[in-house]
Amino acid sequence: MNELTKNGNIGDDVDSWKTLMFIYNSALKEVGTKLEILNDEFQHVHQYNPIEYIKSRVKSPQSIVKKLKRGGYESTLSNMVEHVNDIAGIRIVCSFTSDIYRMAEMIGKQNDLTVVSVKDYIKHPKESGYKSYHMLITIPIFLSDRVVDTKVELQIRTIAMDFWASLEHKIYYKFEGHAPEYISRDLRECSEIVSLLDDKMLSLNEAIMKVKEEQELD
Ligand code: GTP
Ligand code: MG
Repeated sequence: MNELTKNGNIGDDVDSWKTLMFIYNSALKEVGTKLEILNDEFQHVHQYNPIEYIKSRVKSPQSIVKKLKRGGYESTLSNMVEHVNDIAGIRIVCSFTSDIYRMAEMIGKQNDLTVVSVKDYIKHPKESGYKSYHMLITIPIFLSDRVVDTKVELQIRTIAMDFWASLEHKIYYKFEGHAPEYISRDLRECSEIVSLLDDKMLSLNEAIMKVKEEQELD
C-alpha cells in the first residue's frame, strides 16, 4: 500500500495499481526482447554487438509520487499514466556513439513500436554536461480482453557517458541538487573528456576494422 493506492486518492484501487505495474513490467519484457533480437541480428550480420549491456527498471512508487508532486499533480493513477513517462525505463549502453544512432534507427523502424518523442542530449548536452539519446516509445501490450499502449523511456548512451551519468547522479544526490560551483565545473569538464574519449575510441575502432578488412582481402 502506498500513497497512490490509499483510500481517498483513487479509492482503494490496489487492483488497478497492481494491473498497471503488471502492464509496465510486461512492456519492459517486450521491449527487452526486441532489443536482444536487434543485437543478435546485428552480431549475425556485422559480427559485433552494438549493445554492451541493458538495464531496466520500473520506477518506485515513492519516485512516482515525488515526480507527480514536483509537476503539481495529485497522486492518482490516471495522472501517473498520463504525466509520468518513465515508469518503465530501459537503459541501453553501447560501445560507440555510432552504435547509439544505429540502435535508435533500428528501434524507429519497428512497426509495432510508436516513437512518441526523441531528445538528443548528445548533439545538445544538458547544462550539467549530461549526454544520452532519449526516446519515449509506446508498445502495445496484449491482454486477454484489451490492448494497452504502454510508455517506455529509453536512454541510449555509451559506456563512458554512463560512467559520467552515474557519478554525476551520486553527486547531485549528495548535495541535493546544489553542488559547489567548482564541482559542477569539474563535472562539465569531465563530460567534455568523455566526448573526446568516445570520439577517439570510435576512430580507433574504425582503424582496427579497416586493418581487419584489408587482412581478409589478402
Ligand atoms: P525528469 O523529470 O528528470 O525525468 O526529466 P524530463 O522528464 O524532462 O526528461 P529528461 O529527458 O530531461 O530526463 C529523463 C532522465 O534522464 C532522468 O530521469 C535521468 O535519468 C536522466 N537525466 C536527465 N538529465 C540528467 C543529468 O543532468 N544527470 C544525470 N545523471 N541524469 C540525467
Ligand atoms: Mg526520469
